[in-house]
Amino acid sequence: MKKSILFAVMVSALLFTHCTNPSSNTKSTSMLDSAALQKAYDTVLSGKKVGIYFLRNTNQVEVAITNFGGRIVALVVPDKQNKPTDIVLGYNQLSDYLTKPEAYFGALIGRYGNRIAKGQFRLNDSLYQLATNNGPNALHGGPMGFHNQVWNVERVHSNELVLSYLSKDGEEGYPGNLQVQVTYTLTDSNELKINYQATTDKATVVNLTNHAYFNLNGQGNPSITDHELTILATQYSSVDSTLIPIGAPVPVKGTPFDFTTAKLIGKDIAADDAQIKNGLGYDHNFVLDKKTLNDYVKAAIVYAPSTGIQMEVFTTEPAIQFYSGNFLDGSLIGKNNQKYPYRSAFCLETQHYPDSPNQSVFPSTQLLPGQTLQSTTVYTFGVKK
Ligand code: BGC
Repeated sequence: MKKSILFAVMVSALLFTHCTNPSSNTKSTSMLDSAALQKAYDTVLSGKKVGIYFLRNTNQVEVAITNFGGRIVALVVPDKQNKPTDIVLGYNQLSDYLTKPEAYFGALIGRYGNRIAKGQFRLNDSLYQLATNNGPNALHGGPMGFHNQVWNVERVHSNELVLSYLSKDGEEGYPGNLQVQVTYTLTDSNELKINYQATTDKATVVNLTNHAYFNLNGQGNPSITDHELTILATQYSSVDSTLIPIGAPVPVKGTPFDFTTAKLIGKDIAADDAQIKNGLGYDHNFVLDKKTLNDYVKAAIVYAPSTGIQMEVFTTEPAIQFYSGNFLDGSLIGKNNQKYPYRSAFCLETQHYPDSPNQSVFPSTQLLPGQTLQSTTVYTFGVKK
């Protein structure tokens, strides 16, 4: 599979209520070696130009994104001592994304993020069969999902990158030509906005997200269990042992899944609980508390006491997958030769519920011709006082 690749808001999210912006009059210094990264990413894959692009703001926040899989390669924010800290896992060179076992580091995920049971779904009386690349299920759009495609670069500015991708009818088993556009914007309020848009010429199912792995102590640090997490969700999806939701969401109250007030990720991660066992830790869909489905709400807050870095997540999506890096095992060596051990990063993937195409009680993930999918997720960064 890997070898074939070689060929082949509207939002003004408020800055943290309890946070300050890192000083904006500090002399701007870049932690990222742009020239070296460009050298390691500039190439042509399957006739398409691949490169790496840098967004920077006035507060020393920097983001590096490649159009291979639309992946966030680096995200540098100042810590409480104003030290530039790269808080996402990834690789210093494109070749690592092509040859190492897939972890979806920083990638745009589609056409359907998360799992579809047995890789099958019915739509308008047709049965669609997808590749099963995660035990019996389909995961993250299949082996050649959006994370493994070269996206077109539509526009690039100092604070914005617009990528597009045409996923052809039948690609990875999904119906309809799906035209997708993703805009990454970095604001001077330390927001990284991801805006997703999609249209189709045939009924299809879509669930788009980004799969950044964060460690707010800096990528390569050994654990995220010391981070404090809040998820604004009073319900989550309990799952079977293959991580497919079992029916309607259930209350988090009284379970290890209650993050409605700040709690250490490590506090209940090893609880004697059937759902924790199924997820091998946290690997679950949290249903965001919202009045209406597409409301833009705060979804999560994560804070790392040792660096003081705090991240908040806002989204128009109905849910968020909290994954505590349970499948990281130290075998992947990332940027600056850092090992990525067990639970050394977490993901907060804004999304629709897993397996929605097969579960009629879940909000629909169908997209029809004439409709435009619009979705916005914003990550904000700051230092807690
Ligand atoms: C899934 C995990 C999976 C990870 C990396 C997450 O979105 O929920 O089960 O291991 O992605 O593939």
